[in-house]
Amino acid sequence: MRNSIATRLALMFAAAALAVFALLGFALHHVLAGELVRHQQAEIDARLEDISYMLQYGRAPNLGKRIQEKLDTLGSADSRTRTWMWSDDPAYRFGDDAAEVMSAIDAGRDSVEVRLPDSAKTLRMRVHSRTMPATAARPAVRFMAGVDAQPFRDTLRNFETALLLLTLAGTGLAAALGYWIARIGLGPVERLSEEAQRIGPDNRALRLQLPALPRELARLGVSFNAALDRLDAAYAQLATFSDDVAHELRTPLANLIGQTQVALGRERNAPELREVLQSNLEEVERLRAIVADMLFLARAEQGVRARGLVASSIAQEVGKTVEFLDLLLDEAGMTVQVEGDAVAPIETSLFRRALTNLLQNAIQHSRPGAQVLVRIGSHGRSAEVSFSNPSAPIAPEQLARLFDRFYRIDTSRRNSGENHGLGLSIVKAVAVMHNGTVFARSVGGITTVGFSVALQ
Ligand SMILES: Nc1ncnc2c1ncn2[C@@H]1O[C@H](COP(=O)(O)OP(=O)(O)O)[C@@H](O)[C@H]1O
Ligand SMILES: [Mg+2]
Repeated sequence: MRNSIATRLALMFAAAALAVFALLGFALHHVLAGELVRHQQAEIDARLEDISYMLQYGRAPNLGKRIQEKLDTLGSADSRTRTWMWSDDPAYRFGDDAAEVMSAIDAGRDSVEVRLPDSAKTLRMRVHSRTMPATAARPAVRFMAGVDAQPFRDTLRNFETALLLLTLAGTGLAAALGYWIARIGLGPVERLSEEAQRIGPDNRALRLQLPALPRELARLGVSFNAALDRLDAAYAQLATFSDDVAHELRTPLANLIGQTQVALGRERNAPELREVLQSNLEEVERLRAIVADMLFLARAEQGVRARGLVASSIAQEVGKTVEFLDLLLDEAGMTVQVEGDAVAPIETSLFRRALTNLLQNAIQHSRPGAQVLVRIGSHGRSAEVSFSNPSAPIAPEQLARLFDRFYRIDTSRRNSGENHGLGLSIVKAVAVMHNGTVFARSVGGITTVGFSVALQ
C-alpha cells in the first residue's frame, strides 16, 4: 500500500496520545496509591489511638477484657478492622492469631495474611503495632490494629482498569481525530492535484493558482509553475523547430524535383544530363548536411557529453582550423591574427567543428579583405576562445537569438548554398558538451562570437 500522509499523521497522533495518557496514568496511579495507603494508616492510627487512650486512663482491674469489649462494640460489625493485644499477663491478651500477627510485623511486613475466625477465608490486612511500657497497675502491653487492604486494592484495580480502557479509547479517538484533521489539512494538496490534472497540451497556458495555496505548498506551486514554463518554452521551440525543418528541407527538395522534371521534359545529351546530375548532387549534399547537423544537435540535446578529453593547446587547434580554411580565407583576401593561448581538456573533433563554424561565419559575414582576430584566454575555471570580425552592427535582440536553430539575421541569405543557420547552434552544443557557454557581442561594427569550455 502507498504511504499515506493522513495515515501517518493519525498514527503519530495516536502515539502522542498514548504517551500522554501513559504518563498521566502513571502519575495518577502513584498519587492514588499513596492516598489509599494514607487512608489505611489513618484508620489504623485511629484504632491504635483509642487503645492507647484506654490503656492510659482505664483503671478497671480487668482492663484488658474491658478494652476488648469496647473495641468489639466499636468495630466488630464488619471485619474490616481488627485489633489484637499481647502481654505477658493473659488478662491483657485478645484477638485470634495475635502471636502470628506480631511476628509478621517484627519481620518487617506491613501487610499480613489473617484467617477469619469460623471461616476458611483469609484476609490481607495492613497492620501496625504499638507498645506501652508497664505501669504500677498493669504489665507492658503490645497492641496492634489492622485494616482490610482488599477494598483499597480493589479501588486501585478498578482505577487501573478504567485507566487502561480510557487510554485505549483515547488513543483510538486521537487516531480517528488525527486522520480527520489530516484529511482537512491536506485538502489543498488534493485541490492542487486536481488543478494539475487539468493542465495538458490543449491548455498549456494554465498554471496553478498560487494565491490560494497555503505557505507550505507555495514553494511547490512556484517550482511546478516554473517547470511548466520551461516545458512550455521547450514545447513552443520544438513546434517552431519542426516548422523550420520542414521549411528548410522543402526548398532543396523542390529544386531537386523541378530540375529533374525539366531535365526529363525532352531528350538530353550526356553533358546536359551530367550538368543536371551535378546540380542535383549539390542539393542532395545540402540536404545531407542539414540532416547530419540536426542529428548532431539531437544527440547533444539528449545530454551526450564530450568524451576522450585530451588536454590541448587551443591556439594550436585554431592554427589547424585556419590551415583547413586557408583556401576560403585566400579567396576572401582575409587574414587571421591569434592572441593568447590556453590548454583545456577537449574532444578534439568536436572542438574543431566549433572553431570551423566560427571561422566560417567570420569569413562569410564580414566584407572581403577584413581581418579576423582570435582571442584565447582562461578565466577562473574555464577557457575561452572568441572570433572578432568587422560586420554590420547586430541589435541586442538579434544577438540573443544568434544561437537559436535556423536563425539568420539576413533572411535573404536563407537559401544561399552553405548557410542553413545551424552553425552557431552546433557551437553552442559543443560548448555545452564541454560544460561551457557561448557569448556574442557587437560593438562599434565589430562582431565577436565565442565559447568557453570547462577546465576540469
Ligand atoms: N562572425 C559573424 N559576423 C557577423 N554576423 C554573424 C557572425 N556569425 C554569425 N553571424 C550571424 O548569425 C547568424 C547565425 O549564424 P549561423 O548559426 O552560423 O548560421 P549561418 O552561418 O548558417 O547563417 C548568421 O546568419 C549571421 O547573421
Ligand atoms: Mg554559419
